[in-house]
Formats: sequence, structure tokens, C-alpha cells
Amino acid sequence: MFPAHRPRRLRTTPAMRRLVAETTVRPRQLVLPMFVKEGAEAPAEIASMPGVLQHTRESLRKAAVEAVQAGVGGIMLFGVPSTRDAVGSGATDPDGILNAALRDLRSELGDGTVLMSDCCLDEFTDHGHCGVLTATGEVDNDATLEIYGEMAVAQARAGAHVVGPSGMMDGQIGFIRAALDEAGFTDTGILAYSAKYASALYGPFRDAVESQLKGDRKTYQQDPANAREALREVELDLAEGADIVMVKPALPYLDVLAALAQVSNVPVAAYQISGEYAMVEAAARNGWIDRERTVLETLTSIRRAGADIVLTYWAVEAARWLDRE
Ligand code: PBG
Repeated sequence: MFPAHRPRRLRTTPAMRRLVAETTVRPRQLVLPMFVKEGAEAPAEIASMPGVLQHTRESLRKAAVEAVQAGVGGIMLFGVPSTRDAVGSGATDPDGILNAALRDLRSELGDGTVLMSDCCLDEFTDHGHCGVLTATGEVDNDATLEIYGEMAVAQARAGAHVVGPSGMMDGQIGFIRAALDEAGFTDTGILAYSAKYASALYGPFRDAVESQLKGDRKTYQQDPANAREALREVELDLAEGADIVMVKPALPYLDVLAALAQVSNVPVAAYQISGEYAMVEAAARNGWIDRERTVLETLTSIRRAGADIVLTYWAVEAARWLDRE
């Protein structure tokens, strides 16, 4: 007559719920993506990402120190160059904005955090693609690999502990690994953007880096319709020497994340991207959802699905909230 089993018993008090919670989110598991803009005189808020800044080199240093003090596990740095060209020369130039800012951060922070850098050309090319183009305008996979190799070495030399190839070129992990090793950077890690989907949710990021892209990235990023393909991508990246594999975006691809976490024998990351951030911020601003609860729920869900590490623009704020627990 009455139910014999009462799962609600384990939900009765905050202390009980705290005791039985399966999933935790800790500050050390969060990585903060940051933007630094060449020649900027003052930090500027990104209109479609309220609360996220394009930093000057100086404001970046300060914000990075604060992030580390808040307990985040790492920083992923993106550069916004003042000039762009067809081959993305600023990416390999040791004095290019990303490499210069990496040097700043490494000298400021030493080994006190894990410093990561975006290893991709889209911020640096005048056409906005993640690679160089053939005469007929297609993204040239193998010519792009050569530049990624050089870029990775420049970033390692500038102080990156980990490089993050996000361009979805075939063979990029193996190529970059070989280039790093050959240059003596055998300890520099690779965070592979293994399953990166051609998502509409990158829109705000493209504002953040002032991307020049017209068109889309569908010939190199994955089709949102496909999950099996992500497993193939991960298998290749693991075979090529990825130290960490990643799924991106996060929340719309939790099934992919869970599947990947089952097969990966290296840590798995997920990137909660700009559009995921913007959706929550916009709804919260309208008073339609509770901002803090929503953010923590999304992070918990991403962890529950299998992510060891989450890249999130809320890393610092979330770290502070979580420290109260
Ligand atoms: C490519 C890159 C992108 C993001 C990270 N690395 C943009 C893209 O592929 O179009 C997006 C991150 C975000 O949306 O927050 N360098």
C-alpha cells in the first residue's frame, strides 16, 4: 500500500544531500579562457559576452594572477592581433600578441598554474579560416599542419605548458607532437580539441577575437548530427599522442562527452563555449533564470557526463562560489 522504497529519504536535508552527492565541481577542474588584444590601451568588455574582457597585456597579467588566486586549474589564452594576413604570420612570430602575452604570463606565474594556448590560425588570418587556403579557396590541411607545428613550438618557447590545437586539421596532433619533440619541448603537452563541432554557438567568440570569417567551418569541424565520428577522432588523437582530449561545445554534446569518457585513457575536457555563456547571461539579465544556480548546474552536468576538466568563462566566479561550499 505504501511504497517500500523511498529515495526521497536521501534528499531530506542539505547535509544529507551533501553527503550523497555523486558529482563534485572543484576550482582546480576549471580552466579560464582569456583574450588579449594587441595594442589595446584599456580592457574592453565583449558586447555578446558580458563580463568577459579583451585584455591589454597589463590587465591580462593582473586578471591571470587573480584567477590563479581564486584557485582555477589553468588558463587558456587567445590572442587578438592588430593585423592579419593570408597565412596568419602573427601566430608564429615570437613577438605576435599571443606569444608575447604567453611570455608575460609565464614570467608572472611560473609553474603556479597550467598555461595553455590556442594553437589555431583563425584569429590571425585575414580570411578567418583555421588554416591556410589553396588557390581555389579550400582549407589546405597539410600546408596548415606545417604552420601549426611552427606555432606550437613558438608557444612552447614563449612559455605554454600545454598547446591546444583547435583547428580540426587531420593529423594535427601527431604533427605538432613531432614538431615539439624535435625542438626539444618533450614536456609540453597537447590538449586536443578532438571532437569539435561546427556549432552556431561560437558566434560571441568570433566577436571576442574580431574574426574575419565569412562562411563557415563545415569542411573541417564536425557535423552536429554525428556522434560515432567523434569516437574516431578521439582514437586518432590518442594514437597521435594527445595528452588530454576535449569535446566542444559542452552542454549540447553531453552524449558525445559521455561516450568519449568511456573510451579515453587520458583526461577528458569539455569546453563550455561562448554561446553557452551568452545564453545563460542573457536569460539571467532578463530575470528569467537564476544565474548562479544555472551556471553551477551546467558545470555539474558537464562533470557528471564525464569531463575531468571544464573550460568555462565562469571559471573564476564559479571557483569563488564553490569555495564557499
Ligand atoms: C578556434 C576556436 C574557436 C573557439 C575556440 N577556438 C572558434 C571557432 O572554431 O570558430 C570557440 C570558443 C568559444 O566559442 O567560446 N581558434
